[in-house]
Amino acid sequence: MPLLAPSLLASDFANLQAEAEMLGRSAADWLHCDVMDGRFVPNISFGIPVLQAIHRHAQQPLDVHLMIEEPQHYLAAFRDAGAANLTVHYEACPHLHRVVQQIKQLGCRAGVALNPHTPVWVLEDIAADLDLVCIMSVNPGFGGQSFIPNTLRKVAALKELLVDCGSPALIEIDGGVTSENAAALVQAGADVLVAGSFVFNSADPIATLADLREQVSA
Ligand code: DX5
Ligand code: ZN
Repeated sequence: MPLLAPSLLASDFANLQAEAEMLGRSAADWLHCDVMDGRFVPNISFGIPVLQAIHRHAQQPLDVHLMIEEPQHYLAAFRDAGAANLTVHYEACPHLHRVVQQIKQLGCRAGVALNPHTPVWVLEDIAADLDLVCIMSVNPGFGGQSFIPNTLRKVAALKELLVDCGSPALIEIDGGVTSENAAALVQAGADVLVAGSFVFNSADPIATLADLREQVSA
């Protein structure tokens, strides 16, 4: 059954405790936390102290998406702040193999994210070491963007690559996920769906997550 990971980027930052508690009563499996540095992506979101605060009220594991340059300097701090999964960008890591080993040594699940223009085959020689591959279905930096349709083809190609490499990695899709594309993504091989604005801009996020869960479980 696919996992649901609502992205707190679209939540009310002035009420993060209430948002985390609300998600604790929902069908969410992970809480997706988007960290942006204003360098790797043209936006700044939140960092370590905010993650720590979310962790104090979270019921589910924190799935931390690092859209930052030189993530190797901050991995231990994010782990200490409560990250269960640490996902770095392929495009931000010239020494990706080392970074992935660092994450695993810290006891976190190791994830690598790919920007929309980055082909999946660049992961061929590291796939077996990964716990998670995040395919960006929008350009990272902002919530509320439209899903890039080529992602579906990419998910299928990644699925094939992971099987060929004997990799246990889960396939996560991040950006523009809605009830319109969720089922097709799961059918193509997605294991984790991240959804920000679709969940938080809805009148009832708990009901929206329950509906999404039902749709992708059918
Ligand atoms: C984009 C972030 C996403 C974003 C998804 O840079 O990585 O996680 O919050 O938001 P929606 O679902 O609104 O596209
Ligand atoms: Zn994200």
